[in-house]
Amino acid sequence: MTDRKATLSVGDKTIELPVYSGTVGPDVIDVRGLVQEGVFTYDPGFVSTAACESAITYIDGANGVLLHRGYPIEQLAEHSDYLEVCYLLLNGELPSPEENKRFHETIKNHTMLHDQMRNFFHGFRRDAHPMAIMCGVVGALSAFYHDQMDVTDEKQRQITAHRLIAKMPTIAAWCYKYSIGQPFMYPRNDLSYSENFLHMMFGVPCEEYKPNPVLAKAMDKIFILHADHEQNASTSTVRLAGSTGANPYACIASGIAALWGPAHGGANEAVLDMLAEIGDESNIEKYIEKAKDKDDPFRLMGFGHRVYKNFDPRAKVMRETAHEVLRELGLENDPLLKIAQRLEKIALEDEYFVERKLYPNVDFYSGIILKAIGIPTSMFTVIFAMSRTIGWFSHWNEMVSGNYRIGRPRQLYTGPTKRDYPVK
Ligand code: CMC
Repeated sequence: MTDRKATLSVGDKTIELPVYSGTVGPDVIDVRGLVQEGVFTYDPGFVSTAACESAITYIDGANGVLLHRGYPIEQLAEHSDYLEVCYLLLNGELPSPEENKRFHETIKNHTMLHDQMRNFFHGFRRDAHPMAIMCGVVGALSAFYHDQMDVTDEKQRQITAHRLIAKMPTIAAWCYKYSIGQPFMYPRNDLSYSENFLHMMFGVPCEEYKPNPVLAKAMDKIFILHADHEQNASTSTVRLAGSTGANPYACIASGIAALWGPAHGGANEAVLDMLAEIGDESNIEKYIEKAKDKDDPFRLMGFGHRVYKNFDPRAKVMRETAHEVLRELGLENDPLLKIAQRLEKIALEDEYFVERKLYPNVDFYSGIILKAIGIPTSMFTVIFAMSRTIGWFSHWNEMVSGNYRIGRPRQLYTGPTKRDYPVK
């Protein structure tokens, strides 16, 4: 924080506004006092607005930097595992070996769902989208733990964090099992977090499931790379919902709903749908042209990002992992994946994409990996939601443990002025 001021002239009025500096990144101008001057700022899409103060994640989009609590995402993806990253996001520091062991054990002790939740799943149509089920089931957790949802109680918040981290893979896998009519698989606590997820997804009660270590490692990387991403649309949704004092499960459910859209978490599913629609390498040029045509709503899914205008550091890690997985599964010649690779090459060289700095984002490669592992496209966003839950929770927790006010944006009103109802 500094005592510097920015000066704003509105008509013949001069308004002084405080300027603050964070530990790194652009300064912010505190516009809160403007309301007393009778003006608001206008920033649809929150392109230039810092809506909160946060010490969790830092992004430098121009230079492709993503730090969690100061640690670069590439280093976390290489040396850490998802649960350790959860601990870091939640607590601010990496755990000691002893704390790490205890945290892993604690999470394992919470992986089962209340058995009555099975009935909840059965209430959904068989063909329901798994995101619809996940949204409902996570919201419904508040009905199971209603006596431990005091947002002002740090201990209760901590238990909720553990429950959410532990139960999300079970919920995600059960959404899938329900949709294909297979029995729900209970978690196995002798497996790692990602192995257990693969077991609940692909195991069946009549035979033992042995998770492939290369695929389990790739899943763990996907979880790490999706764990948090600063004040994106779904995280901001969770914060806004939480600012009303709503319970954490309801807030996370609101994040899941926001993540579902194709411009956000739905993009990895949309990538695979797009590759299927392109169908053949000979059609790629046609689709590139469609993406460039302003009168055509088609966009290249998995390309572009609101903040990364150089490259997405997560996409770099995902790209390498995609190649490892394809090699392990002998899928290097899969036709859809061939289209993806060719599309990536053409788009990276095409002037339209280069000029607008539209690079493949994390979802372009994560979709390819998930497909290769055998996960259906409808589950892609569910896996994103499951990984992002820790990010959402950490932001919610940061907010409710500090000073916060209900989120209440203003507007530029362009509707009719006051008029009288036509009395007949
Ligand atoms: N294909 C074709 N043109 C594009 C694309 C694309 N994927 N993305 C942006 N553009 C163009 C856009 O038409 C505009 O052109 P012009 O300046 O000539 O009008 C320019 O690039 C800037 O685009 P924008 O819409 O102003 O950028 P934005 O920051 O509002 O949108 C985005 C970012 C991610 C929503 C957008 O790039 C997009 O729709 N990408 C495809 C969906 C996708 O992959 N989303 C996943 C994002 S990563 C995961 C996550 O964080 O959730």
